[in-house]
Amino acid sequence: MAFKDTLLEGLNFNLSEEHLAVKEAARDFAQNELLPGILERDNEQKFDPKLLKRMGELGFMGMMVSPEYGGGGMDTVSYVLAMEELSKVDASASVIVSVNNSLVCYGLEAYGTEEQKQKYLTRLASGEIVGAFCLSEPEAGSDATSQHTTAEDKGDYYLVNGTKNWITNGGISSVCLVIAQTHPELKHKGINCLIVEKGWNGFAVGKKEDKMGIRASDTHSLMFSDVKVPKENRIGADGFGFKFAMSTLNGGRIGIAAQALGIAAGAFELSLKYSQERKAFGKPIFEHQAIQFKLAEMATKIEAARLLVYKAARLKDEGKDYVEAAAMAKLFASDVAMWATTEAVQIHGGYGYVKEYHVERMMRDAKITQIYEGTSEIQKLVIARELIR
Ligand code: CAA
Repeated sequence: MAFKDTLLEGLNFNLSEEHLAVKEAARDFAQNELLPGILERDNEQKFDPKLLKRMGELGFMGMMVSPEYGGGGMDTVSYVLAMEELSKVDASASVIVSVNNSLVCYGLEAYGTEEQKQKYLTRLASGEIVGAFCLSEPEAGSDATSQHTTAEDKGDYYLVNGTKNWITNGGISSVCLVIAQTHPELKHKGINCLIVEKGWNGFAVGKKEDKMGIRASDTHSLMFSDVKVPKENRIGADGFGFKFAMSTLNGGRIGIAAQALGIAAGAFELSLKYSQERKAFGKPIFEHQAIQFKLAEMATKIEAARLLVYKAARLKDEGKDYVEAAAMAKLFASDVAMWATTEAVQIHGGYGYVKEYHVERMMRDAKITQIYEGTSEIQKLVIARELIR
């Protein structure tokens, strides 16, 4: 069996002028426009529509989509750089960006028909409308092949029935990619992905979830009751839906890994600054070895997470297999995010436990990165299967 440490060979981690410009633009937007009002948005569980519009204007909603379809035509490295900077401040904003870019836009561009791209992708990539990716169900989270939502073949349309759960952008989206079972006897090979528009008869938005973290992002259940979906809205061949979901999620996991990296790095930046301002026992707490060790360890693990995230992004950009790299990046970066934000709260002491200092929100936000787009346990399963593939 070939050992895979050779994957690092030939990888170039130098960032171009363009990459640095994207990073700076994302950082400016995050610090100047996302930071003000973040406590209120977290508290009220609302994302400001003006900020959503700005994210579209600044090109964050369809970064990797070809300019032909209204996107930025950028590479995955640019995307993860932007995701990191946005997530340093506001993980609720960055999950909206991540789902729209790496699940919805990528899925449509890679596998949609020309008509589907013209009709939906162009508006999604420009941020004119937002998309949602609907795979999870009340009884199908990690076990994603067990789809209970059905898409009955009625000749020139599908009749969709079922419920989707924990759908990011569920309330604000205009277009949903819905995974549903058409041929139960074929198991996962009978599943389809359909483009369903909000407002179609029988499509209802359920209650908004009251979440631990990423509280300003919009998470709903969605209900489908005899929703007629035209056949031309199916993505790919009959039965391609599960493959579609898995292939799309491979890239999605790079986006969430970058989000986790950003949350960790944001908490680290705040902690480093605080440690030089806060005094205890007659000197800044940074001068106490207990705090230095925490910051040194945070910096090291964050850098390791960054390398994994960049590696996965580079592999995708180079057209190489990135399934294992994406799973490793998400697994590691999300654990680093959870650990580093907990350390950040500890460094901030009593101030870390209250909202104004931001790190308690980051600690709450970090948790979801170990759960969505495949739990840490699922990432280990994916990695283990790749080891013997
Ligand atoms: N990439 C490409 N194909 C994959 C794949 C991957 N990462 N993982 C599985 N597949 C393919 C397999 O090759 C197989 O295809 P064939 O039948 O052609 O061989 C098919 O999918 C079925 O795979 P398995 O036989 O391995 O099925 P399984 O049930 O044993 O395991 C699983 C599948 C990996 C556990 C999968 O169900 C999974 O990834 N679960 C997690 C689901 C998930 O990530 N949900 C996130 C929800 S979306 C979200 O969170 C978005 C949001 O709002 C933020």
